[in-house]
Amino acid sequence: MSSRYFTSLVTRAWLASSRQIAERRRNFPPMGENRQRLVEALAPHRSFLDVGGMYAVAGDVAFWAEDAGATEVLLFDGMDPSTEFVRKHEARQSIVKYRQGDLHDPEDVRLLGPWDVVWCAGVIYHSPDPYRQLLHLRSLTKETLLLGSHIIPEVPGIEGGCIFYPGRSEVSEAAFAAFHNEVDAYPGMTKPFIDAPAMAYANMWWGISLSALRAMLHYAGFEIVSEYRYSTTFIDIVAQPGPEPNFIPPLGFSRERGHSLLETFEDVERPTWCEVPVID
Ligand SMILES: C[S@@+](CC[C@H](N)C(=O)[O-])C[C@H]1O[C@@H](n2cnc3c(N)ncnc32)[C@H](O)[C@@H]1O
Repeated sequence: MSSRYFTSLVTRAWLASSRQIAERRRNFPPMGENRQRLVEALAPHRSFLDVGGMYAVAGDVAFWAEDAGATEVLLFDGMDPSTEFVRKHEARQSIVKYRQGDLHDPEDVRLLGPWDVVWCAGVIYHSPDPYRQLLHLRSLTKETLLLGSHIIPEVPGIEGGCIFYPGRSEVSEAAFAAFHNEVDAYPGMTKPFIDAPAMAYANMWWGISLSALRAMLHYAGFEIVSEYRYSTTFIDIVAQPGPEPNFIPPLGFSRERGHSLLETFEDVERPTWCEVPVID
């Protein structure tokens, strides 16, 4: 048996058995209804930021937050505003605002500033750097985060398992396509990675298990309040900010520490390993 064929068999068996177990144990609630109910509970009298609410839903979550009595609603997304969003916005004479930007970008995140409620569904697995995005969500969240994510079944015997999707074989892509019953929907996961210029975030980058997602949230400074599982592979998690993680060195920390160290030496005493530093 070739190793690719073996990989395909094991992947398919793992995915299929996980689905059977999950679906036997759970009575999954409908996602749309549950999300609307969550927005109605979270948004009244709160400022509300919807990160990544443009594609497919065309601002629905932001509009629900407006209807529920949020004090201010901003939709933040990397893509251009869709025609459907603009049409809905005009028809409702909405006060929802739109800002285009990138959740990876520290400057965009700084400019956004903190919000009472941050809603971020369907975004983090489109990133090569989901933990960094969670840290950014932590700095944006004053009271509540709703994080929606695809998840993979737990990998037997492995806690915190994740799959890096890009670069897998065709048989592995086909196994995920069979599991999702979707050949076309998930570039990077069920079909080849899109490597056209500036298109990387259209791809699925990471398959994240629920154990990994919970741990990532914890180490990004969130405490989980509740979880809503909609299927074997999709979950919404409501979380509150805990203490901001101070164990990640801020950008520039090592450079500044290096400069400070060099300043402790007189020119003549500098060790030979010293690169002459460029200090502004
Ligand atoms: C799969 S859609 C999710 C749509 C909706 N939130 C939902 O739950 O169905 C992903 C959305 O996130 C946006 N997005 C992906 N990566 C992003 C990033 N790094 N910064 C801002 N928006 C991003 C995409 O443009 C798209 O609108």
